[in-house]
Amino acid sequence: MKAMIYTRYGPPEVVRMQDVDVPAVKAGEVLIKIHATTVNRTDCGFRSANYFIVRFFSGLFKPRAKILGCEFAGEIEAVGKNVRNFKPGDRVFGYDETRFGGHGEYKVIAASGALATIPGGMDYTEAAPLTEGSHYALGNIRAARVKKGDIAMVYGATGSIGSAAVQLLKHFGAYVVAVSNTKNVELVASLGADEVIDYETQQFTGTPHRFDFVFDAVGKSSFRQCKPLLKPKGIYISTELGRNSENVFLALVTPLGKGRKVLFPIPSITQADVVMIRNLAESGDFKPVVDRTYPLEQLVEAYRYVETGQKTGNVVITLENSDPP
Ligand SMILES: NC(=O)c1ccc[n+]([C@@H]2O[C@H](COP(=O)([O-])OP(=O)(O)OC[C@H]3O[C@@H](n4cnc5c(N)ncnc54)[C@H](OP(=O)(O)O)[C@@H]3O)[C@@H](O)[C@H]2O)c1
Repeated sequence: MKAMIYTRYGPPEVVRMQDVDVPAVKAGEVLIKIHATTVNRTDCGFRSANYFIVRFFSGLFKPRAKILGCEFAGEIEAVGKNVRNFKPGDRVFGYDETRFGGHGEYKVIAASGALATIPGGMDYTEAAPLTEGSHYALGNIRAARVKKGDIAMVYGATGSIGSAAVQLLKHFGAYVVAVSNTKNVELVASLGADEVIDYETQQFTGTPHRFDFVFDAVGKSSFRQCKPLLKPKGIYISTELGRNSENVFLALVTPLGKGRKVLFPIPSITQADVVMIRNLAESGDFKPVVDRTYPLEQLVEAYRYVETGQKTGNVVITLENSDPP
């Protein structure tokens, strides 16, 4: 099969097209023919290993999983022994940041892993970007225990995580103030944000609101900067470690007090989460924003674009035959 592989950590150019064996499907696993995938910041992090900690998960000196692509959408080609929840021909999507594999024509995953069937009427390119940004957003929203009537700020509402966070916070009944660049103010409002602050013309810290939850989905603010925006028991979460990894330290220390807290939840995703995301997509409560689409052959180009840090939502990668069946 064709796959974009990498055998050492580094810039986008370490990735190249190669013919490799189709992975063997074992008991309890499914083999998926990939029709669409994405390039996202998680793939970039595992490819570059700029954060050394990544190497503890993916290989100290060189990557163990040579085909990246944590998000995928495709068709079940074969099932291993004892698999009852999926059958050949099922259209599925999901997330796998252990074995990755979306950047190849076939991948295997445990049938109990983070995958679910694609809602009827949705094509593979729409289904591929459903999980990455949304599960990070969901984990952070759950950690902040957001409930109906809470007021939340999403700083960086145009990223994959931010654009999902706006939609999910609305689903949970929060009043959402989102921060975005000028060109995406309308887009972010269309995602359901009650107010949009254009960071190119306004200081987001100038908002008169006080928040139950400030979610920095691009990791460009700090607790110190956002603390005055929080209600006395408000919660601040950032998707980045912060200067000198301060967000990890603050997440250990601030919960000991009674006031405003920093949290740094460890991301996770289960099959139940993917089913929930599927249901939200089916009901129209969640629709991933898609910026650009590239064919698999142009993956290096796609990586370069994602690493500008300026994509709007998600970057989708198509494999041949990515049309709906
Ligand atoms: N903690 C984790 O496990 C984890 C996992 C994945 C990703 N991440 C991190 O999460 C962050 C977001 O990733 P992503 O894929 O959602 O988005 P992304 O690709 O980093 O996109 C960021 C978006 O935010 C906008 N933006 C940049 N600077 C901004 C600012 N100062 N104020 C408001 N908007 C700004 C950008 O557009 P403009 O610059 O044009 O405004 C762009 O649309 C990244 O830093 C990534 O490394 C963390």
